[in-house]
Amino acid sequence: MAAEQSAEQFRGQARLPGFAAPRRYDLRLAPDLAACAFAGSVAVDLHVAAPTRFLVLNAAELDVAPGGVGFAPAGSGQVLQPVEVTNVPEDEILIICFNEVLPLGEGTLTIEFQGTLNDKMHGFYRSVYELNGEKKNMAVTQFEPADARRCFPCWDEPAFKAVFKITLEVPSETVALSNMPVTEEKVNGPTKTVYFQESPIMSTYLVAVIVGIFDYVEDFTTDGTRVRVYTQVGKSAQGKFALEVALKTLVLFKEYFAVPYPLPKMDMIAIPDFASGAMENYGLVTYRETALLFDEKHSAAANKQRVAVVVAHELAHQWFGNLVTMEWWTHLWLNEGFATWVSYLAADQFFPEWNVWTQFLEESTTGFKLDALAGSHPIEVDINHVDEIDEIFDAISYRKGASVIRMLQSYLGAEVFQKSLAAYIKRFAYSNAKTEDLWAALEEGSGEPVRTLMHSWTKQQGYPVVSVKLKDGKLQLEQTQFLSSGSTGVGQWVVPITLCCCSYSHQEKFLFHGKQEDFDLSGLMECQNKENFWIKLNVNQTSFYRVSYDEELASRLRYAIETNKLSAADRYGVLDDTYALCMAGKQKLVSLLHLIAAYKDETEYTVLAQVITISLNIAEMMAVAAPEELGNLKKFLIDFLEPFAQKLGWDAKSGEGHLNALLRGTLLTALAELGHEATINEAVRRFNVFLEDRETPLLPPDVRKAAYVALMQTVNKSNKTGYESLLKIYRETDLSQEKVRVLGSLASCPDPVVVREALDFILSPEVRNQDAIFLLRGVCSGAHEVAWQWLKENWDYILGAYSGTLLTYFVNITVSPVSSITHLHPTSLVIPHSL
Ligand code: BES
Ligand code: ZN
Repeated sequence: MAAEQSAEQFRGQARLPGFAAPRRYDLRLAPDLAACAFAGSVAVDLHVAAPTRFLVLNAAELDVAPGGVGFAPAGSGQVLQPVEVTNVPEDEILIICFNEVLPLGEGTLTIEFQGTLNDKMHGFYRSVYELNGEKKNMAVTQFEPADARRCFPCWDEPAFKAVFKITLEVPSETVALSNMPVTEEKVNGPTKTVYFQESPIMSTYLVAVIVGIFDYVEDFTTDGTRVRVYTQVGKSAQGKFALEVALKTLVLFKEYFAVPYPLPKMDMIAIPDFASGAMENYGLVTYRETALLFDEKHSAAANKQRVAVVVAHELAHQWFGNLVTMEWWTHLWLNEGFATWVSYLAADQFFPEWNVWTQFLEESTTGFKLDALAGSHPIEVDINHVDEIDEIFDAISYRKGASVIRMLQSYLGAEVFQKSLAAYIKRFAYSNAKTEDLWAALEEGSGEPVRTLMHSWTKQQGYPVVSVKLKDGKLQLEQTQFLSSGSTGVGQWVVPITLCCCSYSHQEKFLFHGKQEDFDLSGLMECQNKENFWIKLNVNQTSFYRVSYDEELASRLRYAIETNKLSAADRYGVLDDTYALCMAGKQKLVSLLHLIAAYKDETEYTVLAQVITISLNIAEMMAVAAPEELGNLKKFLIDFLEPFAQKLGWDAKSGEGHLNALLRGTLLTALAELGHEATINEAVRRFNVFLEDRETPLLPPDVRKAAYVALMQTVNKSNKTGYESLLKIYRETDLSQEKVRVLGSLASCPDPVVVREALDFILSPEVRNQDAIFLLRGVCSGAHEVAWQWLKENWDYILGAYSGTLLTYFVNITVSPVSSITHLHPTSLVIPHSL
């Protein structure tokens, strides 16, 4: 019985007790930007559903004076004072104990508190910007997954949805933003009070508050929703591209989900210090500068695409996530996987010439990579402590999640999928849902066994490799769990198989439940005896499994690639599967190199980019595992890539497309990394002109990164001019994307002494903590030992200064290349000279 509760029982629990639930928060915050502190008060209207002497809610790193806490049962005219207020830091909860059992029904809990504007990019934090040459602080919130409790005491779980009425007390000259529009501003000398409209019911992790000095651009959607993009003062023109994308996206999603955008306005803002890429706060989406701003002269095509995809992703959450919210973090993947998938759908509508669905395969590849480890996890995971939530914002939730949604959508068909989805959104609007609820809606809408199919993908980790053999006109399929270690897991899936033979006009489609099965496909395989016979499973790579063909089928596919019979997605798939099988020791490196040679006339950006990624990975492993073969391999790769580079050149042809711009950068960067002399010399020549004149047409943004990387190949400890020049560019630009390009190239140097110096630069005040990852990512092959050594020496400092994903990156980057070579097929490391 609740009256016999003791405070002890609330400790160490995964979730808050449900006997009291918030209905409405009246929240006031008064940040002191100069002192990096804030004061606040909150009045929470509650519903008490079971007798209790306790109220238990979340709070962390806040000063709550027991005297500032009271509970007023509705209509009682009384305020009950607690006998004890206990803060339990390890559980991030506040246990408020009263002398008497609280009356059932409504009541208002008031709490006064104080906190610090931290510099960790979560909770209520400060970000630093420059205004007229002067450094200033802005106050920003980042609450997902569980940091609203660092700003105000609250029921900080996604299922405790409530209404928010927010009021801010801020310096008069600042702009104060929150989820809802301002209803009133009262200026009182140096400070002003800003009142915001009450929100619809929403989860705490989506609440947002921002205070600083900004400019904005503004427009209205065709339905009249006001959209603004806020930037630093003087940079609002860089917000125009994102604004255009947002206007179109809001209209598209309104139609796709068949529900209007639920709020009266949408603000999007670039924050100079930001932990992730962007955050979908309801009506006030926050972004890293690189994910929102686009500069016509100095941003690259890749930057443009990033902005479009990130905006679409965050706006998708306004419905999928914000209007319909996951019931618990176990279903985070539903938010993230879905938003990732649907952002491609939007980008494809607006920019069909970008072929984003082919580019999407890079998402699947990243998901495949992580999910091939024995230490992976299912898409749906139990979450028993807040600390565990951060870990699941990973490639499994995002990329495998998006890939299995794509698999389901292509299995069910676009129309049925969309209709069922709209029904799901309508059913769970202003409420919470679980993975099961989505499957139920899709099962209802399609009549297909969606639950059975999808459980095998979301409740167990890993994925299958389907081995294909052709025997007596029958197709023999066998599924086994794919692991990059080369061992075989025990998983089994319901695999949506699609296949086509000799052409795309006849396709076969069925579910493969068993471990091993023969399929009689005589109808489909009329062309079996033809010379150019081929068979391809997982047509257009819409499903999340790998395929291993027997030798005969593999060589026929290679021929189909050489003779340009396969779609770009299928060319990608054959290559990527072969590569993965080779790295797991299931096939020989030689057969992979043979296959790569079949791509000599490749025309599609994503496919060629994958050839390049794979080639560079092989070179990186070779450098460690068989350095004596590295020269031969590099020559092979350079010979392969050079003709593409010659065709493309350094200068954009007039009117050429987006994908050529992407390809040029990728190709030249790869050649520079491989030490290709002609590329390096040309890069240096162009760079020197650029150094004198940043507006020169000789070094457009799409090839700048390539030039920087090339330049770094010429740097060594006794001649650091190139490195110094790059630092000069870094210091003189005020565009984040340019800074990131420089950071990404600094550690790409053959001399370990210079790599070390670059790594030390990360820790200088000149590099924002959010940007360390870019330099780390650029650590060149061969320098990982140096990086590992450096990490160990600086670990104490790093551990203190970085947290969350920003911290894990340090370990990932420095450790993974060294640890991944151990399973290479030992006999496969010799590069035959005949290639
Ligand atoms: N909800 C996330 C932001 C987030 C990430 C919050 C990690 C807390 C922890 C947001 O919707 C998101 O997914 N952002 C991505 C960008 C997106 C385009 C994939 C990101 O930050 O990388
Ligand atoms: Zn997201």
